[in-house]
Amino acid sequence: VDRPPPQLRFTAYDLADPAIAGSALQGAFQRLSSAAAQLMAGRRIAEQGSVSTGSTPAGLQITIGVGERVIRAAGATLPGPMAPIPPFPGEDLDAAASGGDLAISVCGDDPLLTSSAARALGTLLAAWFRPRWTRSGFLPAATEPGSTPRNLMGQLDGTDNPAGARQDLAVWVAPGADVAWMADGTYLVCRRIRMKLAAWDGLTTAAKQRVIGRELVSGAPLSGGTEHSTPSFTALDAAGTPVIPADAHIRLSHPAHNAGATMMRRGYSYDDGYLPDGQPRAGLFFQAFQTDPRATFVPIQRRLASTDALSAFTVHETSALFAVLPGASQGGFVGETLFLG
Ligand code: HEM
Repeated sequence: VDRPPPQLRFTAYDLADPAIAGSALQGAFQRLSSAAAQLMAGRRIAEQGSVSTGSTPAGLQITIGVGERVIRAAGATLPGPMAPIPPFPGEDLDAAASGGDLAISVCGDDPLLTSSAARALGTLLAAWFRPRWTRSGFLPAATEPGSTPRNLMGQLDGTDNPAGARQDLAVWVAPGADVAWMADGTYLVCRRIRMKLAAWDGLTTAAKQRVIGRELVSGAPLSGGTEHSTPSFTALDAAGTPVIPADAHIRLSHPAHNAGATMMRRGYSYDDGYLPDGQPRAGLFFQAFQTDPRATFVPIQRRLASTDALSAFTVHETSALFAVLPGASQGGFVGETLFLG
């Protein structure tokens, strides 16, 4: 799995006017699609002004997703996987920073360019969409290509993401498997998850490792080996206790214990300073791509929320679900399949 760019600027928008629909809405996607293509090709767009002058706009990745209202406004069939994400025990959701009609994720190597590209796209869309919430995120500067990024709890996060054909199967909607307009698209669940870092930092390394089921520094499963060794969930210690505990995060979330359900996680760390009570306002902007959240994110999170040892150290504060649009055809635009009728 390629390592994602270290900077993220995610913006969720609402339709500026509920009357925007059909061909008026199509115009927004045509402009957005060509601007995103320009930016990803390393070119500037007029809306950036002079911010990017003298910079190398390398490595921009732009992902576009739509929410239920845009799907309806375009006249497209609402896919079953867009069923609302249900509530889970222990969460504390901020409605204003959840949901949204359109999502644009801009990732890049350079924080200035990532910010400027994201804002330029918002400027370009102002006649159609108003910003609803935004999220900036970061990954450690890569030391080795292909290495797994570490999160603010100090864990290697992303080790057991699916790769190759397994990833394709887990992420991309196969033609005929869902509504026609989503063929080769994917569904994105976003959750801003605050980490109770003061409590976490107070644990011993051994306790931290038991929460996840992996070694903190190497990322190796507690059953032995190296980072990418297959965990053994049946291995016992001398006392006959499972070495990967019954409530360990990787045991409860592993496909083997979830009827094969597999998602592709792309979390970014965030740090917004402190809450009024002095606790860090920091954590993980969790993103998971999958073919159907009803069969992946929802059942897995239901189980994690009630039994995962990690849940004592996290609070889910926002939630959003978007249909990530398939790529454009030759000469077409991202979102074209929404408007086919
Ligand atoms: C702040 C919250 C979270 C943190 C810090 C966290 C951290 C981790 C870590 C360190 C691993 C092991 C390394 C890896 O394979 O990536 C992992 C694995 C995993 N996590 Fe999380 N996670 C969080 C939330 C979630 C949520 C909300 C879900 C889904 C509902 C989830 C699903 C998974 C899955 C599917 C795996 C791979 C399991 C396997 O195949 O071994 N995680 N997570």
